[in-house]
Amino acid sequence: MCSLYFLSTSTNKYIEIHSILHKYKIDFKFLNMKLKEIQGESLSQIAVEKSKDAFKLISKPVIVEDDGLLIHGLNGFPGSYSSFVFKTIGSSGILKLLSHSKDRSASFVSVFVYNDGNNLRSFLGKTDGKISPKVAGPGWGYDPIFIPTGSELSFGQLKDNKIRLSHRTKAVTAFAKWYSRS
Ligand code: IMP
Repeated sequence: MCSLYFLSTSTNKYIEIHSILHKYKIDFKFLNMKLKEIQGESLSQIAVEKSKDAFKLISKPVIVEDDGLLIHGLNGFPGSYSSFVFKTIGSSGILKLLSHSKDRSASFVSVFVYNDGNNLRSFLGKTDGKISPKVAGPGWGYDPIFIPTGSELSFGQLKDNKIRLSHRTKAVTAFAKWYSRS
C-alpha cells in the first residue's frame, strides 16, 4: 500500500521526482491538487506552509516541492515569485529584462518537504548556472533558458540528462537518503 503522497499540479515535477525516487524503491502517489501558496516569503517558508496545508487536506504523509529561479544580476528575482513571473512575463520577459545585462548568472533552487504530522523535514537542492541569450530548446517552465554550470546546453536541450544536474535531483536525493534510513 502506498504511504506517501505528492501533492502538486505539476505533472512535470511528478515525472522527474518519480524517476529519482524509483531508484530508491520509494513508492508514492501523485495527487493533482492545488495548495495554498503564501506570497512574499522565502521559498523554504512557502514549501513548509504548503506541506502543512497538504497534510491538513489528506491526513497522510505528504511530500511537496517549491522551486525558484534566482537571477543574481537582478538581486535574486524572480525567486519566490518565479511562478507568478512565469505566468505573467514568461521566459521571454526574463530575456528582455536581461538584454543589457553582462551578468547572466543564476541559480535554480528546489525545496522539498516531507510532513507526516509529527516530522517535518526540508531538503534543499541548488544548481548554479546562467540564463541563455535566447530561448534554447524544448522543455517546461524555465528549462529552455537555464544553462547549468558544466553544460553548454539548457535544461530543455539536455532533455533526460537534465536529471543529472538538476536542483530537484539534489533535493529529492537528499530526501530519499534520509527516508530510506528512517
Ligand atoms: P513552483 O512555484 O515550485 O511551481 O515553481 C516556480 C516556477 O518555476 C514555475 O513557473 C515552474 O514552472 C518553474 N519551475 C520549477 N521547477 C522547474 C524546473 O525544473 N525547470 C523549469 N522550470 C521550473
